[in-house]
Amino acid sequence: MKSSRISGFYKMPMEERIKIVKEFAGLSDEEAEMLLSFNALQKDIADRMIENVIGCMQLPLGIATNFIINGKELLIPMAIEETSVVAAASNAAKMARPAGFKAKASEPIMIGQVQILNPCRDAEKKIKNAKEDVLSLANSQDKILVELGGGAKDLEVRWLSDDMLAVHLLVDVRDAMGANAVNTMAEAVAPLLERITGGKALLRIISNLAIYRLAEAEVVYEKDAIGGEEVVDKIVKAYEFASLDIFRAATHNKGIMNGIDAVAIATGNDWRAIEAGAHAYAGMNGYKPLTIWQKDENGNLYGKIKLPLAVGIIGGVTKVHPIARISLKILNVETAKELAEIMASVGLAQNFAALRALATKGIQAGHMKLHAQNIAVMAGAVGEEIDVVAKKMVEEGKIRMGRAKEILEEIRKNKKV
Ligand code: MEV
Repeated sequence: MKSSRISGFYKMPMEERIKIVKEFAGLSDEEAEMLLSFNALQKDIADRMIENVIGCMQLPLGIATNFIINGKELLIPMAIEETSVVAAASNAAKMARPAGFKAKASEPIMIGQVQILNPCRDAEKKIKNAKEDVLSLANSQDKILVELGGGAKDLEVRWLSDDMLAVHLLVDVRDAMGANAVNTMAEAVAPLLERITGGKALLRIISNLAIYRLAEAEVVYEKDAIGGEEVVDKIVKAYEFASLDIFRAATHNKGIMNGIDAVAIATGNDWRAIEAGAHAYAGMNGYKPLTIWQKDENGNLYGKIKLPLAVGIIGGVTKVHPIARISLKILNVETAKELAEIMASVGLAQNFAALRALATKGIQAGHMKLHAQNIAVMAGAVGEEIDVVAKKMVEEGKIRMGRAKEILEEIRKNKKV
């Protein structure tokens, strides 16, 4: 059986890493070459994706190793500019083995909102009576979605003020993110809702607060795998901080989104929609952390995450961007639900890694190592010199360009002798 536990992956040359991922995921030669080319998104595709294109903003694509989610060994593609995130996720996933993460996602139901101004007093009753007509009009917009088992399934009516109503169209979008299908349906039913209510429809748009499209993941960290019961207690206290304080909760959730966004970007998903949904969900009853951490009866650490994850594996950029296609192939997911389960697990792992680092040696230690390596490269170090210069700067606690240049000179001088 293939395993995502790949020892020393981070130390391998890039070609070797790509070779391993290629074998793991069954990538073609062309796909492997595309990764190595650092030039996958061609000009003409980019030019059709957005307007006024003048170039391409690239992000590194990394692989988080060691994940087991619902018993499946997974390599996780993550696109992100921030150092340490991929390493932290891999490390957190390693400590969660062999049981790994258990995750589940609800049906992919999105909400389309139609805002109605000045409706009649009994608008709610009238809309509910006409429910089947509204749903069938919505469903006539997307026969394929309906054939696949999706489509508009239900309605909700919410009075927002004396003269404003929000009608929610609940749409099962199957494996799409769903914005296009939902927006089309919301626009299509608006005139009918106007006739039913005697009011005027204004906005007709998806809600990113996808409360019916939730993903959750759970994990148990054995106390001995993470540094003992003392570390368990510290992580629980770190979580309590976030649950009591919005200033901390914001940063706590940012750490979760480091992982989730990175997978969203790698797979071509709309990370702003995911961010909006996650933070609005966190704020539904006063802004709270998206995870919980507790000590279980055996003294081990139990963690759980729950959040809306409106992600797709068909349509949009997921199929247009070559790297998104490759990332989805690496993840080997068959449904959008499965992708949401993976992303929830990565968010949970990322949060664990951040809390463990923060509650023990602090976050800077890990960051400094990579920062030092970057400074070493900027100072002109190449090959093995990079690690030597970086290590010395970290030991000395002086991570500066000037010092990097001095160390580099010393190494090179000693080599000549
Ligand atoms: C940094 O990108 C993320 C953290 O700040 C998250 C956290 O504080 O939990 C380390």
